[in-house]
Amino acid sequence: MPGVVIVGAQWGDEGKGKVTDLLAEDATMIVRFQGGNNAGHTIVRDGREYKFHLIPSGILHQDKTCVIGNGVVVDPRVLLGEIDDLKRAGVGVANLRISANAHLIMPYHVLLDTAGETKLGKNSIGTTRRGIGPAYADKALRLGIRVQDLLDEKILRTKIRAALEPKQQALRELGVQRRKLRREGNDEARAAAALGPDPRLDVHSMVEEHVNFGHRLEPHIADTARLCWDELDAGHRVIFEGAQATLLDLDHGTYPFVTSSNPIAGAATVGAGVGPTDISEVWGIAKAYTTRVGAGPFPTELEDEIGERMVEAGHEFGTTTGRRRRVGWLDLVGLRYAVRLNRMDALAITKLDVLRGLGPLRVAVRYRSREGAELDSFPYHQSILHSATAEYEELPGFDEDVGDARTEAELPAAARDYLAYIAEFVGVPVRLVGVGPDREQTIRIGD
Ligand code: IMP
Repeated sequence: MPGVVIVGAQWGDEGKGKVTDLLAEDATMIVRFQGGNNAGHTIVRDGREYKFHLIPSGILHQDKTCVIGNGVVVDPRVLLGEIDDLKRAGVGVANLRISANAHLIMPYHVLLDTAGETKLGKNSIGTTRRGIGPAYADKALRLGIRVQDLLDEKILRTKIRAALEPKQQALRELGVQRRKLRREGNDEARAAAALGPDPRLDVHSMVEEHVNFGHRLEPHIADTARLCWDELDAGHRVIFEGAQATLLDLDHGTYPFVTSSNPIAGAATVGAGVGPTDISEVWGIAKAYTTRVGAGPFPTELEDEIGERMVEAGHEFGTTTGRRRRVGWLDLVGLRYAVRLNRMDALAITKLDVLRGLGPLRVAVRYRSREGAELDSFPYHQSILHSATAEYEELPGFDEDVGDARTEAELPAAARDYLAYIAEFVGVPVRLVGVGPDREQTIRIGD
């Protein structure tokens, strides 16, 4: 039974944190396997709200080991900030382990990510500007700095110098732009908004600062693949928690409007250091509708009053950047694609309550290409996807408050039918339903 992977089935923000928190109840370990602090998980427990970007959602379970796997990119400043926040909230972090092989997001990565977005202007991907892409790029270029390097000052210095070398030109240009902005009377806040924070790129101070980060993180740094093997070999349940989501996958998502890692289930093996046969179950998380942050195709997008109501009822603003999310009807073509790509066993449908009072509910069951062709499956060609329109099935809506429902039977018939339609269409059961933000506002089906 041991390995369970939890992945986002849409474009992110599906509520994976809450579902992980629930499914982790009988697990001994929770492992994040990709992404960085571009993610944002909000967990509401006993009325208190916790926001995480890097730390696995399972941290609230003090008796479980929480692992930041080798596939994650770690901004040590952000991680230490989260550790401090948790300690202030009275949550201990003695159970946190960080892979020595995980790569670091360095100050120059953040700078280059922000500058890249500014330069691309309206064609930008809409990244979270957290340095994710540049950090993964350096990893592939073999210019990355790893968590273990924080523990060796000499190596750290050599590697920082090597990583900065090919970036000198770009960084110099940024310096020129920053000075220009200042000359034009802009203050630091405006310069930072356009170009990213002014990092101290002096090698000496960067090394000094990162050696200090290393001292603080050292008790948590470990050979985390081995920790996973120990749990799995003992027959314990380990949860592998994905960040972002299937349609943002670098290989299988809506490239280039994607993130720089692989958020799909298969990547859990690489990003944690386990084998495919260690995974016995895959859960996909989808909202009862669809949202997306940043640019890229979105066939079911709503730019009307219903969309506004979804944003309002669902509080659709990003945990990481505060950006208003784009919203739309549930896209079953995309969801069916995600189900197969991840070979999901079960679905959790979150935020069902948001659909209350929206009138008849629409779900996309096929796309129509610009040339008029009927598309039953998610098109691999981005030019087709960009101009495709969604075609819908209309299902009855519901006006009842579902926030207090704790069993499927307590849901209005229309809500039950909506869930049954989804399960039938994509071919996997809906086993968990979210009816409100609190952990308790959850319905388990078929347990
Ligand atoms: P990056 O991951 O910051 O490079 O951003 C690439 C794309 O992924 C952008 O469209 C982001 O808005 C999107 N993205 C990254 N992380 C998340 C997330 O946790 N939720 C939703 N979208 C995300």
